[in-house]
Amino acid sequence: MIVVLNFGSQFAHLIARRVRDLGVKAEILPFDTPASVIASHNPVGLILSGGPASVLEKGSPHPDKRIFELGVPILGICYGHQLMGQMLGGRVIPGKTREFGKEHLALKGSRPLFSGLKRSEVVWFSHGDQVSKLPKGFIKIASTADCPYAAFADPKRRLFGIQFHPEVTHTVHGTRVLQNFVFGVCGAKKNWEIKAVARHLIEDIRLEVGNSHVLVGISGGVDSLVAATLIHKAIGNRLHAVFVDHGLLRKGEMEQVSTYLRKHGFKKLHLIDARKTFLGRLTGVSDPEQKRKIIGHTFIEVFENAIKKELKKYEITYLAQGTIYPDRIESAATGKGAAKIKSHHNLTLPEKLGFKILEPIKDLYKDEVRRVGAVLNLPHELLWRHPFPGPGLAIRIVGEITPERLSILRDADAVYIEELRKAGEYEKIWQAFAALLPVKVVGVMGDARTYEYVIALRAVDSVDGMSADWHKIPPALLERISSHIVGRVRGVNRVLYDITQKPPATIEYE
Ligand code: XMP
Repeated sequence: MIVVLNFGSQFAHLIARRVRDLGVKAEILPFDTPASVIASHNPVGLILSGGPASVLEKGSPHPDKRIFELGVPILGICYGHQLMGQMLGGRVIPGKTREFGKEHLALKGSRPLFSGLKRSEVVWFSHGDQVSKLPKGFIKIASTADCPYAAFADPKRRLFGIQFHPEVTHTVHGTRVLQNFVFGVCGAKKNWEIKAVARHLIEDIRLEVGNSHVLVGISGGVDSLVAATLIHKAIGNRLHAVFVDHGLLRKGEMEQVSTYLRKHGFKKLHLIDARKTFLGRLTGVSDPEQKRKIIGHTFIEVFENAIKKELKKYEITYLAQGTIYPDRIESAATGKGAAKIKSHHNLTLPEKLGFKILEPIKDLYKDEVRRVGAVLNLPHELLWRHPFPGPGLAIRIVGEITPERLSILRDADAVYIEELRKAGEYEKIWQAFAALLPVKVVGVMGDARTYEYVIALRAVDSVDGMSADWHKIPPALLERISSHIVGRVRGVNRVLYDITQKPPATIEYE
């Protein structure tokens, strides 16, 4: 595998993704991971990511200096490039701005990092600090008009630094540079081919679980469904799938998912109607984190009760979850200094469960989850259904949840999604849903004044939910959706379209 040390760059994910797309496992580790821990992962190469800091600032993030003694090839990108220059005895001088932009890179040598590239390449460049004197043993391999050491190398020790970003698409042959590093320099073997990944995941589950029984909570989202299917393939009827209706599901969701599971041979399927319990506990609660905590804890309680009542006769050792890689990163489970943004439902579970936790897809990005699902022959419609969060509609009703608000939101969301599907727009969107804003506004219908709720429509384009852009739904379709919602859903007299990116907004409303 390739280890990416994260110096606080958003692009660290992109680097890992690009490496995985080349067919090689990549793992992101915090920048200060001790060299011995890095070595225990057996990487064939290290990549030092970019980052917002300056190596010239006091206290800026530095890696364990022993990484340079591990004997594995290292590629420093942007901040990582400057770090390498500074830490190995060269010099770095401050830049005037920290902007990014297109630059023409003049290549001095081609092999091995720049194999197959032209003598001049368009790259996405970071105009920050720059290396002004090379460390001993290094040679210059590329420059730009204003940056003499835009790329350098110590071919003997297989250390490379590039000031530009090969991971972004603006760098025309960036993938080729990463490919050259991963295969040409590091000699990595392809091990991240999705069919093999699925097979390995199933084998790993079988090994880990042994003869035990596993409980999995199905939430209606793609992640839990893929996780459940993997486990089902691994251990068959020792998997107990519990689908809790917490009263926060979308319209028709329970029926659709349970029909699929039955059809696909899930024999131990337990459908639990816990709507009253959940909604009772959520009454009067409007704080987002409080809602998430209540839902997370109630889930466990409902599971435990189900075990006591229905599943007592089996010895259930594991609780399986559909946690994916971005969930872990965002909940600051990895990555130093990453701020806690939201406590994800999947991670608010109390520790003293009495279960071991099984998270078969915890290292996968969302699109990888879908590709694994396709290998497992999950039906297209379920697989390509937009992600749905564990806490369900609770985080799409801003503030207090009431039965009336739930019913309005469910209907509005169903109209929205149906119209997107009919127009062929649904599968162009990464995630779309309606949210209910807890304000009432004035409208007029017929001759009468109305005073009703506002529905916000969200549709975003994203790769993995970490960042997102608002999706440009054609205006005519937006208009149709708006008039259908107001016309068909009682209790709504205004529809807004959310045009905020993530960041600064999040995708969900709470
Ligand atoms: P945010 O709102 O954090 O959402 O920008 C990013 C992605 O994560 C989903 N999400 C969740 N999924 N449990 C989940 O399983 C949660 O608690 C949770 N909160 C957000 C969200 O739907 C989006 O796809």
